[in-house]
Amino acid sequence: MKIINAQLEKIAVNQKQYPNANLPEIAFAGRSNVGKSSFINSMLNRTNLARTSGKPGKTRTINFYNINEEFRFVDLPGYGYAQVSKKEKDKWGYIIEEYLNTRKNLVEIIQLVDIRHEPTEQDLIMYNWIKTFNFTGIIIATKADKISKGKYQGNLKIIKNKLEIQDPNLIIPYSSSKKINKDKVWSVFKDILMKNKEQQSK
Ligand code: GTP
Ligand code: MG
Repeated sequence: MKIINAQLEKIAVNQKQYPNANLPEIAFAGRSNVGKSSFINSMLNRTNLARTSGKPGKTRTINFYNINEEFRFVDLPGYGYAQVSKKEKDKWGYIIEEYLNTRKNLVEIIQLVDIRHEPTEQDLIMYNWIKTFNFTGIIIATKADKISKGKYQGNLKIIKNKLEIQDPNLIIPYSSSKKINKDKVWSVFKDILMKNKEQQSK
């Protein structure tokens, strides 16, 4: 994918603040600190477009990134950060639910999990939500540079079992720092956008 132009178009916490629903959107969900913002930066060849942090809970808003005026990446607020209050957690649920429930131009929601750890109960809830909304259920297993290649299979299996995934091809190991599988993920995204285009023109 040739990135001609990528920019942060909108920061939102509710529907009124979303940009126009005129472009297809691919959204990214996952635990705080799993590497969502880093993933977006690495895919777009940018170092600091989506703000990242060693401190969990950096992204607490829905951030819309416009790419080539063709489609958007949507960075959803991370969940599972222990240090936030119950009120903050409720707010998180509301922000995501409103987006999932109302966004007509959302074509796929991708979940990120850390390749090193078994997914949490909240990951499972999120994943079931994604499937309930009839999305494909693609998982990006982040921080793959932190384990040796020989460990991939075993770790991916733990993820597969916990999230009750049938098709192992739905889980893609990824590294933002080492760009592992960047081309593969782009080809998956191109497919998604292409299929969406075909459906729109029907
Ligand atoms: P929130 O905004 O809190 O939801 O977090 P996030 O999911 O956006 O995570 P972020 O991209 O900010 O990354 C969190 C930390 O993990 C940062 O210190 C990143 O440098 C690190 N990180 C992210 N992806 C990778 C990766 O592929 N490999 C390695 N080694 N570190 C990564
Ligand atoms: Mg973030």
